[in-house]
Amino acid sequence: MDNLTRLSNNPRRYAESFDVYWKLCRNVGAFEHWINSYFPEKIMKEINLERGNKLMALGIGSGPGQTEIKFLKQLLREWPEITDTVVEPDLSYINKYKDLAVKKTELIDGVSFEWRQQTLQQFRQENQNQPVKKYHFIMAIHALYFFEDLPDVLKYLISILEDGGMILAMISCDDSCTSQCYEQMPQFKKNAYAISTRDVEKALEKLQIQYVKHRIQVNMDATSCFDGESKEGELLLDFLTRSAFFKKNASESLYSDMIKHLRSIVLPESKDGKSLLRCDCDAIVITK
Ligand SMILES: C[S@@+](CC[C@H](N)C(=O)[O-])C[C@H]1O[C@@H](n2cnc3c(N)ncnc32)[C@H](O)[C@@H]1O
Repeated sequence: MDNLTRLSNNPRRYAESFDVYWKLCRNVGAFEHWINSYFPEKIMKEINLERGNKLMALGIGSGPGQTEIKFLKQLLREWPEITDTVVEPDLSYINKYKDLAVKKTELIDGVSFEWRQQTLQQFRQENQNQPVKKYHFIMAIHALYFFEDLPDVLKYLISILEDGGMILAMISCDDSCTSQCYEQMPQFKKNAYAISTRDVEKALEKLQIQYVKHRIQVNMDATSCFDGESKEGELLLDFLTRSAFFKKNASESLYSDMIKHLRSIVLPESKDGKSLLRCDCDAIVITK
C-alpha cells in the first residue's frame, strides 16, 4: 500500500530536494549560457522601457533567488535601477535569497527588494483593493506548477504587466523527465499539478495571447537515483515524484516501477557510468 504525501506540503523537504535537483541540472552550463548570453542578446531588448528608467520587476515563486539574481544582473546592464518584488511563501527561501543578495551585492548593486512572504494568491488578494501596481518584468521561473487554473493566473499576471513589459515563464517541456514521470506513472499527478509547456500554451491560446517559445536543453545527472544507499538519490526521487520521502513511503512495487521507468528514459548519450535524463525546459515570453 502506498502512503505518498505531497512534497509541497513539506516545505523543508521540498527545499532540500529542489536544491539537489537544481544542482544536478544546472551544472551542465546550458542554462547559465541561456541566461547570460541568449537572454540579454535576444530577449531582454524586447522590453520596451527607455534605458536608464527605473525597472519594476516581480518574481513569482522566487525560491532562494539563485536564478532570479542572474536575470537581475543582466537587466541592470540596461536599467541600472531596479525594484524587485519577491513573492515567495517559504520563509527559509526568503532568508536564503536575502543572504544571497548580500553576498552578491557587487553583482546586483542598483536593485532594491520588496520581500513578500506569501503565495501569489495571497499577494493578489491583498492588492485587490489597492491602486493597481504594474511591473515591467515578471518572472515565473518554474513556478506555474502551483496553480490549478492557469488561464486565470496568466490573465492576472498580464493585467499587472506594464505596457511594453515582459513576462518570462519557464516550465518543464512536454518530454522532460518530470513530464514523462507523470505520464507513465499517473499516481504522482495527485501530488502536483502536472503542468508542462503544452498546458501553458493551451491557456495562452484560450486567452488569445501571443507568445514566443524558446527551448533550453538541459540534461540532469540522475545516477544517484539508481543507488539505493544514496541520500542525494532519495531527494531527487522525491522531486521527480513530487512525493515526500518517496523511497520510505512507496510500496516496493511502486518504487521498483519508478526505478524501471527512470532506467527506460536514461539518455543514450550517457557515458562514464553516468545516467543522464532530459530536463529541457521552455521559456515562454509574453510581451505587452
Ligand atoms: C521549483 S521552485 C522554483 C524556484 C525558483 N524560481 C528557481 O527556478 O530557482 C518553485 C517555488 O515556487 C514557490 N511556490 C509554491 N507555491 C507558490 C504559490 N502559490 N505562489 C507563489 N510561489 C509559490 C515555492 O515555495 C518554490 O520556491
